[in-house]
Amino acid sequence: MNKKVLVTGGAGYIGSHVVRQLGEAGYDVIIYDNCSTGSAESLLFGELIIGDLADTKLLYQVLSQHKFSAVLHFAASLIVPESVARPLDYYSNNTRNTLNLLECCSLTGINKIIFSSTAAVYGEPEQIPVTELTPTQPINPYGRSKLMSEWLIQDYAAVSNLNYVILRYFNVAGAEPRIRIGQISPNATHLIKVACDAALKRRSELLIFGTDFSTPDGTAIRDYIHVEDLASAHLDALRYLEKGNQSEIFNCGYGAGYSVREVVERVKAISETDFPVIEAKRRPGDPACVMAESDKIRQVLNWQPKYNQLDTIIATTLAWEMRKKAKQNHLVSRIF
Ligand code: UD1
Repeated sequence: MNKKVLVTGGAGYIGSHVVRQLGEAGYDVIIYDNCSTGSAESLLFGELIIGDLADTKLLYQVLSQHKFSAVLHFAASLIVPESVARPLDYYSNNTRNTLNLLECCSLTGINKIIFSSTAAVYGEPEQIPVTELTPTQPINPYGRSKLMSEWLIQDYAAVSNLNYVILRYFNVAGAEPRIRIGQISPNATHLIKVACDAALKRRSELLIFGTDFSTPDGTAIRDYIHVEDLASAHLDALRYLEKGNQSEIFNCGYGAGYSVREVVERVKAISETDFPVIEAKRRPGDPACVMAESDKIRQVLNWQPKYNQLDTIIATTLAWEMRKKAKQNHLVSRIF
C-alpha cells in the first residue's frame, strides 16, 4: 500500500507531533510548511519543503511530483484575538489556502484529506458538551475561516471521489512525553503555555481574561487535550480513510472542562511556584464554556487517549518549557 502522505503545516506544533507518529508508523512523510511559526527543528521524520499554500505553482508541482495517498492539512493561523484584529489574513491563510489545496488535490487526483478544524466553529454553544451535530455558529473570524474551509471540503467531496475526515480540535496543549518536541512559537498565547512561562519566571504575571463569565468561578471553561492524543487521532483517521470508510467529522476533546482559575492553580501546584495573577477584562471573541462530547471518535475510530489528565498535560508542557529554557541558558553561557 502507498504510504506516502503530504502534511501541510507539519513543522508546526500539532503537525510535528503527527509527523513523528506517522514516521514511527512507517509512513513516508513530506512536509509542506512556510515555517512562519513552525521550524525544521520540530521534525523528527520526513522531508521538509519550505513553501506557502498561496504559492499554487509550487504546491501543484509538489503534489504532481509525488504520488501521495493522502493529505493532512494543518497549515493555518489559529489565534482567536488576532483573527478579530486581522480578519482578512485569516480568510486568506485559512480559507483561501484550503481552496488552493483542494484545487491542487483535484488536479492531481488526491482523494483523501484530513483537515484540522476547531471547536471555534461551534461559537458559544447552547448545549454543553457539544456533539458533532451541535449547530455551528462561530463568533470570531478564526472560527468562521475554519468553518468555511469545512464547507469547501464537504461541497467538493459531494461531487468528487474525495473522502475526508474533519477533526475539530478543542484546546490542545502538552508536549511529546520524551520532551523532544513541543510548542516552539515564542508568541504562543495558549493559557497553559503562558501559565508555565509565568511559573518559570519568563513573564512577571498571568492575566485572567474575564472573571464575569456565567461559569462557577467566573472564568472561562475549556476542554484541554494532550497533543499526543490529538496526534494519534490523526493516525486513526488516516487508517479509517485507507479502509475506504465514508467521510466524517469528529470532535477531539476529552469531555472534561477546566476553568482558567483551575488551570492556573494546577500549574502553580505542579511547578511548586507562585506567580502574580491579575484579573483583566475579557478578550474579544472568547466564549464562556467549550467542552466536547467525544463518544463518536471513540466509537467510530476506536480512538483511545492515553494522556487524558490535566496534570499530565501541564507536566509535559512544563518539562518542555524547562528544556527550552535550559537550552537557551546553555547557548547564552557558550556565547558570553
Ligand atoms: C484555543 C485555540 C483555538 C481553538 C480553541 C478551541 C490556540 C491559540 N487557540 O483557543 O485555535 O479553536 O482553543 O476551544 O491554540 N486565557 C487567560 N490568560 C491567558 C491566556 C488565556 O485568561 O494568558 C484564557 C482565555 O481568555 C480563554 C482560555 O484561557 O478563556 C483559553 O485560552 P487559549 O488557551 O488562548 O485558547 P482559546 O482561545 O480557547
